[in-house]
Amino acid sequence: MGCLAVMAGWPLKRWLGLALVMLHLVTLGCALPKEVKSKVGEKVGLPCCHEIPSSESLSNYRVYWQRNTREVVLAYSEGKKIPDYDQYVNRTELDSKNLTLWIYPVEILDNGTYQCVVQNLRISQDFSPRVVCDAPVSLSVTADFSEPNITSNVINTTCESTEMVVTCSSYGGFPKPKISGFFNNGSLVWNTTWVSESSLSPYNVTGKLHLNVTKDINLTCSVEYNGFVKSTSLLLTKTNDCIAPTMPPSYNVITATSIIFIIFLLAITLAARYFPRHACFHCSKNQDPMDEDEKESMKPPTISKMTSETSSV
Ligand SMILES: *[C@@H]1O[C@H](CO)[C@@H](O)[C@H](O)[C@H]1NC(C)=O
Ligand SMILES: *[C@@H]1O[C@H](CO)[C@@H](O)[C@H](O)[C@H]1NC(C)=O
Ligand SMILES: *[C@@H]1O[C@H](CO)[C@@H](O)[C@H](O)[C@H]1NC(C)=O
Ligand SMILES: *[C@@H]1O[C@H](CO)[C@@H](O)[C@H](O)[C@H]1NC(C)=O
Ligand SMILES: *[C@@H]1O[C@H](CO)[C@@H](O)[C@H](O)[C@H]1NC(C)=O
Ligand SMILES: *[C@@H]1O[C@H](CO)[C@@H](O)[C@H](O)[C@H]1NC(C)=O
Ligand SMILES: *[C@@H]1O[C@H](CO)[C@@H](O)[C@H](O)[C@H]1NC(C)=O
Ligand SMILES: *[C@@H]1O[C@H](CO)[C@@H](O)[C@H](O)[C@H]1NC(C)=O
Ligand SMILES: *[C@@H]1O[C@H](CO)[C@@H](O)[C@H](O)[C@H]1NC(C)=O
Ligand SMILES: *[C@@H]1O[C@H](CO)[C@@H](O)[C@H](O)[C@H]1NC(C)=O
Repeated sequence: MGCLAVMAGWPLKRWLGLALVMLHLVTLGCALPKEVKSKVGEKVGLPCCHEIPSSESLSNYRVYWQRNTREVVLAYSEGKKIPDYDQYVNRTELDSKNLTLWIYPVEILDNGTYQCVVQNLRISQDFSPRVVCDAPVSLSVTADFSEPNITSNVINTTCESTEMVVTCSSYGGFPKPKISGFFNNGSLVWNTTWVSESSLSPYNVTGKLHLNVTKDINLTCSVEYNGFVKSTSLLLTKTNDCIAPTMPPSYNVITATSIIFIIFLLAITLAARYFPRHACFHCSKNQDPMDEDEKESMKPPTISKMTSETSSV
């Protein structure tokens, strides 16, 4: 009955264009309400099923916006607002022509199915106002999750592989999310846990993975909710334990080589100091700077020899 009323309120053009869709709705028992999406804190308009013609005014009507078939969200009778209901106090507004229900700011608790019921007070039917239309609209509320945070803990490492536990967490979103992941081009299944105070509260989500990494991998964690996705990537590097055993021998070799080299240098220095002096005692004075320096250092003894000779004379 509600479905037929909806169709009666539709303009002819849309009627023809969507005849097939409507046929489907009718065959499904009109179980598919119009869906509106909104994010927490935004302003959302839920469309009603009737538009008041410009020749008439809201005072000829009674309009009920209700939720989950029982709770009244907002109601107008003969143009007067019937007092607000707790959850929606100061957050609702009715468009006086197309009867759209505006909610601002949207809260997670507003998620649910609403219904707009319009009665015409001028036309009575069986001694009560005629129902012009009665249609459901579902409001699907979304709250953004934080950017996922990926952390990894190495629990064992061997030469071939690094065993690690990877944790991906995100918080404060709605509705209940899914966590999926990829490493390089493969997909991953996270062991997921959700925390929420109730089915209509923000969720905190944590996914855990046990990985055996044999080479560096680029891992992505995605949190999906109501068609939205938040992703983070992390490059996991395999810690290499294979260099350690080869370190000590090479270190020893370097040390031994250095010692031999130093001894060799000392030997050459000593040889250079004594051998050229004895061999070239009578050579010409034209020698390279290195020998010049050596002669300089030899001066004091020579001078002392000279003086001793002079004194003896
Ligand atoms: C109803 O009217 C308001 C402006 O008055 C407009 O923003 C809104 O889109 C209309 N809704 C529908 C369903 O036509
Ligand atoms: C709603 O608005 C009225 C008038 O602005 C104000 O007096 C009242 O405190 C408000 N109520 C809430 C719950 O904000
Ligand atoms: C939120 O509302 C949508 C649309 O009515 C519904 O499908 C969904 O189940 C609701 N979620 C919760 C947690 O009630
Ligand atoms: C990610 O998680 C770690 C461990 O829980 C924490 O120390 C770090 O501050 C978090 N980073 C962000 C950006 O939240
Ligand atoms: C690390 O892994 C190796 C090989 O898989 C295993 O033999 C060893 O017991 C593990 N060590 C720890 C602390 O788990
Ligand atoms: C990743 O892609 C490469 C080539 O693009 C392919 O050879 C490899 O098998 C893929 N790995 C997985 C785990 O799908
Ligand atoms: C997921 O984690 C829970 C608790 O940490 C654990 O009991 C369960 O065995 C894990 N499941 C898988 C498939 O790893
Ligand atoms: C979710 O996480 C936030 C930030 O880490 C924390 O403040 C809040 O208490 C958590 N909520 C629940 C239900 O655990
Ligand atoms: C990790 O993978 C390596 C190579 O595939 C394998 O030898 C090792 O046993 C694995 N370790 C664990 C703990 O699965
Ligand atoms: C990891 O992969 C993601 C998407 O596949 C890409 O955006 C990101 O730059 C990559 N990061 C690194 C460090 O390779």
